[in-house]
Amino acid sequence: MPLIKYIEANGTEYAVEAESGISAMEAAVKNNVPGIDGDCGGAAACATCHVYVDPDWIGKTGPAAEGLEKSMLEFAEDVHENSRLACQITLNDALNGLVLKLPEKQH
Ligand code: FES
Repeated sequence: MPLIKYIEANGTEYAVEAESGISAMEAAVKNNVPGIDGDCGGAAACATCHVYVDPDWIGKTGPAAEGLEKSMLEFAEDVHENSRLACQITLNDALNGLVLKLPEKQH
């Protein structure tokens, strides 16, 4: 059960114990983390799950994938190098302690 920390732009933190195998979007929605809506259900088609991966963790999650994920991020605001769609990050024990920050406009 990886522990994932979501941090809102205002600094509010949410620690979520997630099941391995689900996405960082699903874990946030199940635990009522505000700012991650997951409108498309995880199909990389809405960008309402945009997050910034903490720089210490980008090596483990990897950057946004070429193709669908990168193209959808073009529709998100304030996209940075460490931007990802949370629905495209599958959680596992190697991501225990992962820190994801939420964009300011997404709350
Ligand atoms: Fe729609 Fe991630 S839930 S892009």
